[in-house]
Amino acid sequence: MIWILGASGYIGEALVAEARRQKLPFRPVARHELDYADFRTLVTALSKDKPDFVINAGGFTGKPNVDACEKFKAETIAGNVTLALTVAQACDVAGTRLGTVSSGCIYTGAKIQRQDGSWAVEDRLTEPLISELLEKRSDRVCGFSEEDDPNFTFEHNNCSFYSGTKAVAESALRGFPDFYVWRLRIPFDEYDGPRNYLTKVQCYPRVYQNWNSLTHRGDFGRAVLAFATGKVSGGIYNMTNPGYVSTREVVEEIRKRLKPGWCPNFWSGDDEFYRFGAGTPRSNCLLDVNKSRQAHVALRPLAGALEDSFARWQKK
Ligand SMILES: NC(=O)c1ccc[n+]([C@@H]2O[C@H](COP(=O)([O-])OP(=O)(O)OC[C@H]3O[C@@H](n4cnc5c(N)ncnc54)[C@H](OP(=O)(O)O)[C@@H]3O)[C@@H](O)[C@H]2O)c1
Repeated sequence: MIWILGASGYIGEALVAEARRQKLPFRPVARHELDYADFRTLVTALSKDKPDFVINAGGFTGKPNVDACEKFKAETIAGNVTLALTVAQACDVAGTRLGTVSSGCIYTGAKIQRQDGSWAVEDRLTEPLISELLEKRSDRVCGFSEEDDPNFTFEHNNCSFYSGTKAVAESALRGFPDFYVWRLRIPFDEYDGPRNYLTKVQCYPRVYQNWNSLTHRGDFGRAVLAFATGKVSGGIYNMTNPGYVSTREVVEEIRKRLKPGWCPNFWSGDDEFYRFGAGTPRSNCLLDVNKSRQAHVALRPLAGALEDSFARWQKK
């Protein structure tokens, strides 16, 4: 039996859909029926019902976007740090396997190979020379691996409050090496809706150009359930679709596939976006997925997952 905590959320509902599709025994768990944020309540329930695996898809992301986390700091800490640790400690005590849904938003930028062959972190992917390499899909560009220390954190003093709490939680979860931590980034799929990145891009009054790894929500669900039912080693896993994309490229695809003639306005650059369009710094980054590939739990390549989502687009 697999328990899915936070099953009512955007990511949780994809996990539920996948468990249902695979006819796996699962229980969607919501705080109002079992307060899994309370250590004693959760340990008692785990010890009694003995699920084989717990997926923690609970968290506080901020609505309509991460700017809200700057205002609701206590809720952000409770949802992202306290909850993640409470669930990990309860699973540890009860002897239950656990996977926690985390985020790649604890990084900014990517790793770029210099002319002398050495690699360095470049935290602004919108710099013209970097963008040129990204556009060419150059071999001199590489995403952050699970071995790389997060660089969009409270310690670096450059992050949103949301990202800071996700990094704190991850750092604490390293104390439970048998448990999984799955980092996803910017979820999308074929279902039009306010949480889907492909819908969001169509709704922004002005679009912000940058480069990112993304995660197809259904692919993520399939991979997470493969972890839950398989024998992959514990630890942190980057769970984005292999590849990366720019907002301009996504806009082009939307124009081609969904909205011919659509011509959105873009912010002129980072300065204008951060002056008028965003309240708190945004993570824009590339993740390396070799570890999940080697563990045979990799998602589909991003280009194909995007194409498939546009081909099967279901308008709300
Ligand atoms: N959506 C994204 O863009 C994105 C990107 C990267 C990573 N993630 C991560 O994925 C996880 C799930 O995100 P999501 O987008 O599915 O979030 P969501 O739609 O807001 O749902 C999260 C669920 O968490 C549960 N929850 C538990 N404690 C909570 C608290 N203190 N405050 C608010 N909700 C709480 C709630 O379910 P019940 O109350 O019903 O139990 C809620 O439905 C989070 O850890 C998030 O950081 C999300």
